[in-house]
Amino acid sequence: MLDVGALPKAELHVHIEGTFEPELIFEIAERNRITLPYRNVGELRKAYDFKNLPSFLDVYYAGMNVLQIEQDYYDLTIAYLRRAAEQNVRHAEIFFDPQAHTLRGIAFDTVIEGLRAALRDGERELGVTSSLILCFLRDRSEESAMQTFDSALRNCDRIVAVGLDSAEIGNPPSKFASVFERARAEGFHTVAHAGEEGPPEYVWEALDVLKVSRIDHGVRCMEDAALVERLRRERVPLTVCPLSNVRLKVVPDLAHHSLKRMLDAGLAVTVNSDDPAYFGGYVAENYARSAEALGLTDEHLLALARTSFEASFIDDGERRRLLAEIPAARFEGASAQWPAAGCAQRLA
Ligand code: ADE
Ligand code: ZN
Repeated sequence: MLDVGALPKAELHVHIEGTFEPELIFEIAERNRITLPYRNVGELRKAYDFKNLPSFLDVYYAGMNVLQIEQDYYDLTIAYLRRAAEQNVRHAEIFFDPQAHTLRGIAFDTVIEGLRAALRDGERELGVTSSLILCFLRDRSEESAMQTFDSALRNCDRIVAVGLDSAEIGNPPSKFASVFERARAEGFHTVAHAGEEGPPEYVWEALDVLKVSRIDHGVRCMEDAALVERLRRERVPLTVCPLSNVRLKVVPDLAHHSLKRMLDAGLAVTVNSDDPAYFGGYVAENYARSAEALGLTDEHLLALARTSFEASFIDDGERRRLLAEIPAARFEGASAQWPAAGCAQRLA
């Protein structure tokens, strides 16, 4: 197997709050004089035994409560970027959940200023380019999402897209039709978690109602042949997160994961880490363990890395430069589908 740690790649599905390692949770809690309901890192890690997505989200939201000031958000983000750089992630499009912070009294600007300062240093010192995807919490109201979007519009540098995450079942994409329409009108790309725990119908809705240009997870599309055909024909990228799907019991184990079947069906699949601090691996571990369990070839791994750049929200010059770093990449295949968007485009 080729060295997946050295393979140049983009990471397109990582929640910054899901990169919060237990050691850093304790360090920041102490700094902010917050007492955690766990005595030490070992005890906290023992809570990382999830039966489904909602049971994970309880622990995930509890962990991020210790984040209070800009420096905390900076430390969280630079720690992720260091790990990413070690695994030759050349470009990262990073989700953040502003409502998980603003709803407990932290200002939107505190969150984004901390994140942005780290992205700048990550680019300068580590050579990892990056942008942000603002996720709306789908188990909250659309009105709350709309208020969040208003805050973001006032301070949106680095935000290239909006997304949709949190508890999927019972919260279909159509609930957020208006805020996504507004985001598109303001020049942002759109993505949505769909078909992780929720049914294939949610993937259809994300495409038809939210008009997303990527589907996050989407693994349940394989239950619907017409949907697979649509995704293949339109070459809609899917940001698949194999270790997450195992830890959240979407699949029983990696050997039963649909990643290889998705590749064989001609889908534009990428591999990502989702919430690496909670799911036992960063992006390279997701590549390596999937390859091992499913018998992926070097060609499969190269295709995954290529698709990660093709599906990135970067301009075409940058895409070509990054694709050129992949051994044996065929540059003619590089797509020009996704021009730069978000603030840069809006302010131009
Ligand atoms: N937020 C963080 N991780 C998530 C996931 N895997 N699905 C939905 N929302 C999330
Ligand atoms: Zn996710």
